[in-house]
Amino acid sequence: MICLFPGTFDPPTLGHMDIMRRAAKLADKLYVVVLVNSAKKPMFAPEERVLFLNECIRNLGLGNIVVDSFSGLLADYAKKVNAGCVIRSLRSGADFEYERPLALANDILCPGLETLFLAADPKYFHISSSLAKEIASHGGCTDAMVPADVSSRMQEKLASQRHNRV
Ligand code: COA
Repeated sequence: MICLFPGTFDPPTLGHMDIMRRAAKLADKLYVVVLVNSAKKPMFAPEERVLFLNECIRNLGLGNIVVDSFSGLLADYAKKVNAGCVIRSLRSGADFEYERPLALANDILCPGLETLFLAADPKYFHISSSLAKEIASHGGCTDAMVPADVSSRMQEKLASQRHNRV
């Protein structure tokens, strides 16, 4: 089955990587799609996030993952690539409450589009993209939260933002 793993991925975390690795085993083809969450103000441009994801995936050594970005509805992207399933991860009950209306809306917008929830690895329960950005913005080490390449890209981005403010 063609599956989608959508997200903002600003930036991708080790938790996202774990879900990607596990989802790629379930899917014939997995599209990892950078989408717009209108509630978020991202640090990285979609092209940068696609680049990070491609670098991370290269390290996973899996051949059935395609990284893409899209600025419309997830349901429309699903129709475009003929996907049958959306994969999302759950770290907590709060995640489920957030995900449930999205899953129902996606099923209405693209009838038959299933959402499959993978339980996040407890190792990554505490991780979020926002937390990694917060720690990096105060000069802290984020190597336990995001892939090493992403960690250094965050430092570069923050340094260039500081430089542009001066
Ligand atoms: N381990 C660690 N962290 C995880 C995780 C895991 N397994 N799974 C999720 N997270 C964290 C992420 O780091 C992120 O943290 P943040 O909130 O601090 O940024 C958060 O949980 C979830 O973000 P992410 O996975 O990047 O995606 P999202 O929830 O922002 O994505 C979209 C939502 C993009 C899928 C949704 O807005 C969408 O579909 N947009 C397209 C437009 C659309 O169709 N809208 C209507 C939908 S019905």
